[in-house]
Amino acid sequence: MIVTHLELRNFRNYPSIDLDFDEKANIVTGKNGSGKTNIVEAIYFLSLCKSWRTNETRALIRQGSSFALIRADVREGELHRRIEIQITSQGKKISLNGKPIRRLSELSKIVNVALFSPEDVNIFKDSPSSRRNFLDISLSKQSPDYFSLIGKYNKLLQERNAAMKNINPDRTYLEVLTDQMIDVSEPIAHYRSVYLEGLNKILSKLASALYGQSRTVLLVYKPFIRSAEFKPAAKKAYERSLESDLFHKTTSVGVHREDFSLMLDGKDISLYGSQGENRLAAIALKLTPFFLIEDGGRKPITVLDDVYSELDAIHAERLTNLIKSLGQVFVTSAEVSIEGGTYIDVSQNIATRRK
Ligand SMILES: Nc1ncnc2c1ncn2[C@@H]1O[C@H](COP(=O)(O)OP(=O)(O)OP(=O)(O)O)[C@@H](O)[C@H]1O
Ligand SMILES: [Mg+2]
Repeated sequence: MIVTHLELRNFRNYPSIDLDFDEKANIVTGKNGSGKTNIVEAIYFLSLCKSWRTNETRALIRQGSSFALIRADVREGELHRRIEIQITSQGKKISLNGKPIRRLSELSKIVNVALFSPEDVNIFKDSPSSRRNFLDISLSKQSPDYFSLIGKYNKLLQERNAAMKNINPDRTYLEVLTDQMIDVSEPIAHYRSVYLEGLNKILSKLASALYGQSRTVLLVYKPFIRSAEFKPAAKKAYERSLESDLFHKTTSVGVHREDFSLMLDGKDISLYGSQGENRLAAIALKLTPFFLIEDGGRKPITVLDDVYSELDAIHAERLTNLIKSLGQVFVTSAEVSIEGGTYIDVSQNIATRRK
């Protein structure tokens, strides 16, 4: 899948732009604050109808305007589709080939975007929720079953937390909810463990290509149940924490607290890794979705926002080589050059493709 054309109306700093993209590397260049990230933000928006930068959809509408519009032409093999997203203060309206669509999941099936953003640099040092989000988002894109399991689990978790906030919590009801949570947790944990194993195969190659030498890179899953007997062990874990959970009125154990770490040459990168090693590992992790999906038609496009900053010349060159092996890519950068790439120059609220 590739994005061949993009039109923005009143999106962020742009009154109106129309752009044709290349099927390989597209490099958005311009000064700080000129609007480079805004363009790739619009491309990312096509896949989840959400920005990674803000939950305030209002911020996407150009100041002084009443609506914003993102229109894109997307090609998958011989199939051409047009996506239109209209954003107003009331909400978002999406249409596909002129017909309204209601479910966001329909959109993410059409546009799949793998993203690296500057916020990802510290993914291994941040709180576990950023790593879980990465797992949940990537796995949900790959498996509708996982998406539905996580949805069920989060609903049960909310109900359990709400039930514990009662003055006299109903312990029988809590047990019923807990049992249901355990039922959906087992496949969730299984999906996560298999996914991380798959990532490991790709990640060590990508990371070594970026580091410039063969290094052992291993993601280590930290499941909340380590025993092969999942259900009885989980039941015990919930029982052990019940009194404390009731006291704090929240659920302290479960797949919603799971995590993973990255071991670089056997040492936890969040504790021992340098800033640059963390940056390169984060970039490698964020590039994995492209290599993980084997079906060429379903491979994601890759958005790399500010991925080159703070890389020295030799690491930047290695990254460029890796980028050349991807499909369609959007890179924002003040100065990078990629041989054979298409350049989009941004200045004064206008973006133009360099001839
Ligand atoms: N809703 C909006 N209306 C008008 N302008 C906006 C809106 N949202 C953001 N901007 C403007 O967009 C500009 C920032 O754009 P963007 O983040 O894309 O810059 P950038 O080129 O990626 O910069 P950097 O190189 O620093 O990352 C700012 O000048 C900001 O004021
Ligand atoms: Mg930027």
